[in-house]
Amino acid sequence: MNPNLNQLQPYPFQKLRQLLEGITRNAALSPIELQIGEPKHATPDFIRQAMVNNLDGLSTYPTTHGTSSLRTSIAAWIKRRFKLTDINRDTEIIPVNGSREALFSFAQAVIDRSISQPGVVCPNPFYQIYEGAALLAGAMPFFINTLPDDHFKLDYSQLTDAEWSRTQLIYVCSPNNPTGSVMKLNEWRELFALSDRYGFVVASDECYSEIYFDEKNPPLGALDAAQQLGRTGFPRLVVFNSLSKRSNVPGLRSGFVAGDAKLLEKFLLYRTYHGSAMSPAAQAASAAAWSDEAHVVENRRLYAQKFFEAVALLSDVTAVQMPDAGFYLWVKTPISDTEFTKKLYQNYNVTVLPGSYLAREAHGMNPGKNFVRIALVASPQECIEAMSRMKNFLKSL
Ligand SMILES: Cc1ncc(COP(=O)(O)O)c(C=O)c1O
Repeated sequence: MNPNLNQLQPYPFQKLRQLLEGITRNAALSPIELQIGEPKHATPDFIRQAMVNNLDGLSTYPTTHGTSSLRTSIAAWIKRRFKLTDINRDTEIIPVNGSREALFSFAQAVIDRSISQPGVVCPNPFYQIYEGAALLAGAMPFFINTLPDDHFKLDYSQLTDAEWSRTQLIYVCSPNNPTGSVMKLNEWRELFALSDRYGFVVASDECYSEIYFDEKNPPLGALDAAQQLGRTGFPRLVVFNSLSKRSNVPGLRSGFVAGDAKLLEKFLLYRTYHGSAMSPAAQAASAAAWSDEAHVVENRRLYAQKFFEAVALLSDVTAVQMPDAGFYLWVKTPISDTEFTKKLYQNYNVTVLPGSYLAREAHGMNPGKNFVRIALVASPQECIEAMSRMKNFLKSL
């Protein structure tokens, strides 16, 4: 077997199961699960119907590049959402089976192992797929800690010139899981300048881009930033987006990658061998989903309601902040994050994720330590009930 498999860490939810094993929960309270970022709002009916209406597609092999109708709807969405003057649906977009598989497989296609000791930069805390993708591509992850005092910004100066010289790929995540921060134009400017200088590829994970709280102020995306900074053709830049959170269809497994046509041509070749074409019925449902905004506006309304109430409740007892975007609260704990998680589970029957499980020890610290990640994905009633319990818990500490 590939020895790099031995470098993979258990997934955070496996560590959580071990942490909570054998603990008896308070049976007087109903269980509320806020540890996993799985959307729980209803899947819109028109998406389900589009899937059903297109089951005939099951009798044909789909192409890896997807139908032109799906790529047309994705291109139109990208142009609307990010105010792009143009994006080529045939050379600058590929549909993918959810952003996770694409984030993973992208590193396998990008990393050049013939160059010694390739590096992949990841934010820390981070989505663990980036690290696994780097390790299985034969690269070493380099971490940039994102910290509250710095509004969870990426401080590129944490890496040395030697580390940047080895870097072939950087993953960034904006809106960020778990911190909720959104990258600003000046951070993109700096990152593009580094990419121009050292020649690395930028993978921008934007799967939370549609969960935000001010309809007039959607988060900036990387393609948008590139255009604003006068970069033509998105050099060395690929963005990853997804319907999972935007349209409440995590089971559809549907997203896209968009950006640098030269990179995507090679990535498409890789994917043809990898065998990652999307089912025709899923493609039809996806085209319908990307073409509609009304359900996304309603989705955001539900999240906004939960976040404003949750933050108002908790701010009486702790310094909690609204995230810029996304559906996580990243909350500082007055005791260790693992103890906090255990006690909240045992006494209040609420499950959250210890922040240290989402981060690695780097630059002398684990930046997830003494934080918990709370996914406000359940119904508004359940989320508010959970936050009232947590408020009582925090008061008791
Ligand atoms: C940061 C981040 N990126 C990517 C994904 C993958 O989402 P999907 O594969 O459903 O598009 C997730 C899922 O939780 C995530 O949190």
